[in-house]
Amino acid sequence: MKITCNNICKSFQNNSMTLNRDVLRGISFDLESGDSLSISGPSGAGKSTLLNIISGLDDPDRGDIYFDNLCFSNLKTNEKTKFRLQNISLVFQSFNLLKDFNVLENIMLPLSYKGLSKKDSEKHALSALDNVDLSNFKLSSVTTLSGGEAQRVGIARALAMNTKIILADEPTGNLDKDTSNSIVNSLVDVCKMNKVSLVVVSHDDSVLSKLNINKKIIDGKFI
Ligand SMILES: Nc1ncnc2c1ncn2[C@@H]1O[C@H](COP(=O)(O)OP(=O)(O)OP(=O)(O)O)[C@@H](O)[C@H]1O
Ligand SMILES: [Mg+2]
Repeated sequence: MKITCNNICKSFQNNSMTLNRDVLRGISFDLESGDSLSISGPSGAGKSTLLNIISGLDDPDRGDIYFDNLCFSNLKTNEKTKFRLQNISLVFQSFNLLKDFNVLENIMLPLSYKGLSKKDSEKHALSALDNVDLSNFKLSSVTTLSGGEAQRVGIARALAMNTKIILADEPTGNLDKDTSNSIVNSLVDVCKMNKVSLVVVSHDDSVLSKLNINKKIIDGKFI
C-alpha cells in the first residue's frame, strides 16, 4: 500500500506549559507499495512521534496522511482504529507485550481481533515465530524473555498480522549484530515478497543499508 505524508507538523507543550516545542516541522514523503524507508535522527528528534502519527495513534497539528487514495487524516478515531487493525502492523520501541499471556498467545491475540479463527491464528503465529527463530519459546511466559527475545516476539507479532504496512520503531535496538542482521533480513524479505511497505526507525547502518530510502530527521525536517 502506498503511503503519502504531506507536510506533517507536530508540536508539544513542555512541562511548564509555557513553551511549544516544534518537533515535526513539515515532513513529506511518498513511499510506494512494497518500498522501504528508514528514519534516523538524534534522540528526541521526533521519530516515534512520526510513526505514531502515521499509524493514527496520535494526530498531527497540520498535514495529511494518505494510504493509496484514502485520506487517513479525515477518518474518525474508530475508523482509524479499524483501518489500522486491517492494514498496519506496529513494532513498538517498548515491545508492548501482554504479561499475562505466553509468546504464542501474544502473537495470536491481535489476529483473533482481526477476525481469524483460532486455527488460522495459530498457523500464522507459528510461522512468524519461525521467521524470528523463536519457535522453541512459543509456550514461554513473556516475562521470562530477554530484551532481544521480547523484541523478536514483537516483530513476529507484526509479521503474523500479514498487513500491507509495517511500522517498526528501533526493531533491532536490543539485538546483537548477528541476530539483528538475520532478523532484518527476514523482515525485509517477507516485506518484499508480500509487497509490504516498511518504515523502520533505526540508527544501525547495517539496517539502513537494507532499505530503499534513507531519511534523517534534523530540526523537525527530513534530510
Ligand atoms: N505526549 C508528549 N507530550 C510532550 N512531549 C512529548 C510527547 N511525546 C513526545 N514528546 C517530546 O517530543 C520529542 C520527540 O519525541 P520522540 O519520542 O518522537 O523522539 P524520538 O526521536 O523517537 O527519540 P528516541 O530516539 O529517544 O526514541 C521529545 O522531546 C519528547 O519529549
Ligand atoms: Mg523513539
